Amino acid sequence: MKSGFAFVLGLFAAVFLPWEGLVIGSNAQLGALPPFYDDGESATLPYWFPGVANQGQRVYRDLGCAECHTQQVRRPNLGSDQARGWGERQNVARDYIYQGFPQLGTARIGPDLANLAARKPSAPDADDLLNLLYKGQGGMPSYKFLFEHRKLIGPPSAHALTLTGGLRPAAGWEIVPTPRALALVGYLTNLNSSYDLPEAKPVPAPGAKEGEAGSPPAAGPKSAAAGTPPAGAPPAGAAASPPAGTPAAAATPAAGAKPAAAATPPAGAAPAAGTPAAGTPAAGTPPPAKQEGAK
Ligand code: HEC
Repeated sequence: MKSGFAFVLGLFAAVFLPWEGLVIGSNAQLGALPPFYDDGESATLPYWFPGVANQGQRVYRDLGCAECHTQQVRRPNLGSDQARGWGERQNVARDYIYQGFPQLGTARIGPDLANLAARKPSAPDADDLLNLLYKGQGGMPSYKFLFEHRKLIGPPSAHALTLTGGLRPAAGWEIVPTPRALALVGYLTNLNSSYDLPEAKPVPAPGAKEGEAGSPPAAGPKSAAAGTPPAGAPPAGAAASPPAGTPAAAATPAAGAKPAAAATPPAGAAPAAGTPAAGTPAAGTPPPAKQEGAK
């Protein structure tokens, strides 16, 4: 090394320049996003996030709900979020400006919650959510520790859970949510990005022009999802089973003009599905070989 000074300068530049781009640049772009005033609605958007929702967001963060739930609806061409009823438009940065700790999440073991309070046909109310948190459901764990099992003194509390069957507390006892549970539910009942923002016009779902899709594997799940919107949940599963995929694709008459095209994707999908499967072990094999070679 010739010059220590040049080295330190280079090190500084290598750290500072990316940091400037990632942190300062993003902050300059999005850091001061103002709310949008909608003249037609006479409303300022996004909706204000009340104090209890902000408290509840901390509970949500604390309990790691974002390990299983996202809060970001994607465009139709990036996933089937809208077909699943999670929202009518994609989420944008402005949706989160009032939130202290936006919980975008990374994995979707459970449904996306960005529009939980605007679910159609009926959004869960506070009692539904308290019951869900207490009991759990399907893959959703139960959070009994957010509730207190206590002896009834006088009339039952306003928020006491109305449970049936084996979960019902013994006579003279009641199960009441703790303040953390109430804050969490206050947060969940405020998750709503169903208003319109100028930069978030709903993107129309890619309809009949499926044939244009560049990637055959993408066409498979899409046609399956179009055939059965509610059962669109496991697109991976649908894609994995060629017999299921074929009738679904055949059943989609939207692209009736192109029976040949309809016939092509399943044919394409099957080898495509076969290829990654075959590709995976193949891809799995070389690395050890490479490592061995490296060693
Ligand atoms: C281990 C993964 C997991 C964790 C952690 C988890 N959930 Fe869930 N959640 C699920 C699954 C799976 C479902 C769907 C349950 C079903 O089959 O109905 C669900 C459903 C829900 C629903 C109903 C959604 C709807 O569309 O009706 C809400 C609300 C919810 N979870 C909130 C939470 C909250 C709040 C937390 C944190 C306290 C949390 N979840 C933690 C997996 C999880």
